[in-house]
Parts: sequence; C-alpha cells; structure tokens
Amino acid sequence: MATLLHIDSSIRLEGSVSREVTAAFTEHWRKANPDGKVNYRDLAVNPVPHLTAAGYFAAFTPAEERTPEQVAGWATHQELADELLSADEVVIGAPMYNFSIPDSLKSWLDHVISPATMPNRETGEAPLAGKRFVVVHARGGAYGPGTPREDFEFQERYLRKVFNSLGVEAGVTFVAAEMTLADANPALAEFKDFKQESLANAHSAVRQLAGASA
Ligand SMILES: Cc1cc2nc3c(=O)[nH]c(=O)nc-3n(C[C@H](O)[C@H](O)[C@H](O)COP(=O)(O)O)c2cc1C
Repeated sequence: MATLLHIDSSIRLEGSVSREVTAAFTEHWRKANPDGKVNYRDLAVNPVPHLTAAGYFAAFTPAEERTPEQVAGWATHQELADELLSADEVVIGAPMYNFSIPDSLKSWLDHVISPATMPNRETGEAPLAGKRFVVVHARGGAYGPGTPREDFEFQERYLRKVFNSLGVEAGVTFVAAEMTLADANPALAEFKDFKQESLANAHSAVRQLAGASA
C-alpha cells in the first residue's frame, strides 16, 4: 500500500495558492492510489517546535545517557523522521516568504535532516533516495530565468540543494505558481493573465505527477 505524506506551510488558511495546488495533487493521488494512505501535516496550524540544542545533540548521545530534555527533543525528531521515512511520496506546499521558505517548513527540515535520513558516508546508501518529492511553490512575484528578480530566488534553489544533499536528485520535482498577488496588488495588474496561466500550468503538472489518468 502506497503512502503519501502531504505537508502544507502557508499561513493563509483561506485563499492559499500552495494549499489549493497541494490539495489538487492529493485528490488526484487518491484516485490513482485507491488503497493508498495519506498522512497530512499542517505546519502552520500545528507548527513543530524549533529544534533545541538538547534535541540536536541527542543524536550523538547513547539513548541510555540522554537527559530528559534530550529525550523530549529526540521524541519530536523521531516522530517526524519516521513519518517521512514511512512515506513513498511527499507533496510539500512551500510559499515564498522573503525570498525563501516559511520558518515552519525550515523548522520541520531541521528535525528531519538527521542521521536517520542522511546518506551513509561509508556505504553511500540514502534512505530517502527512492522516494518521490513534489514541491509546490507559490510566489507573489515571478523569479524565473530572465526575470529581474531571478537572483532573489532562494526557495527552489535552497530546497533543491537540501534534497540533493539527502541523496534525492531526479526524485524531486518543483511546481511553481507565480504572480499570485497580481489581483491584489495594483502594481502587478498587468500580470493577471500570467498568474492564471501559471496556476493552470501548476494544476496540470500536479495532475500528471500524481498519476491521474484523465
Ligand atoms: C511573510 C510574507 C513574505 C512574502 N515574501 C514574498 C517574497 O519575498 N516574494 C514574493 O514574490 N512574494 C512574497 N510573498 C507573497 C507570497 O509568496 C504569495 O502570497 C504566495 O501566494 C503565498 O503562498 P500561499 O498563496 O500558498 O499563501 C510574501 C508573503 C508573506 C505572507
């Protein structure tokens, strides 16, 4: 039975473009995997606690020697890492905040990037290598090649490097919905058609990626 881990991180619970597109992915995925299981994590509604020094150093301390703070920190880490490791596919909603990702998503990454998920230096074995990741970006502006703000793009560039460092290369796909603020921001009014087209392309990409048949 296939398992999908669906993660959202937009602070907008209404009108969020990343949530709209990740939800569409999951809907298509459910149709393509009628026996599949979906685990859902909303990092904006239920943020994971920021990683603490105790939690971080628990990884390097034998279980029987851990302090109560290390035990508590390790429990959060283990829950999140196990949830990720148990998934076959992962869809992540990642809005652009100040040219990068939401702090709640960064916090999640700080927990799940650990010895349990990192490639083994000696064998090269990467626990996440066989999984498929789909990252849905939503951005108020546009950051594609040739745009004036191309150089400010630290969302996809950052996440791509993170996944690559975990041994995930071809297994990660980025889907962008851009100019999402074109309707709300008069300065972007000329990009309303661009916004619609970008959103339609994002929907069509996730439909295909989720394995929908029609
Ligand atoms: C705190 C914050 C910072 C943002 N920073 C940027 C930014 O640097 N560049 C940009 O293009 N849009 C920025 N935006 C706009 C969002 O990227 C845009 O509204 C996007 O659609 C958010 O995703 P969502 O629709 O899933 O909520 C920002 C929005 C917020 C709330």
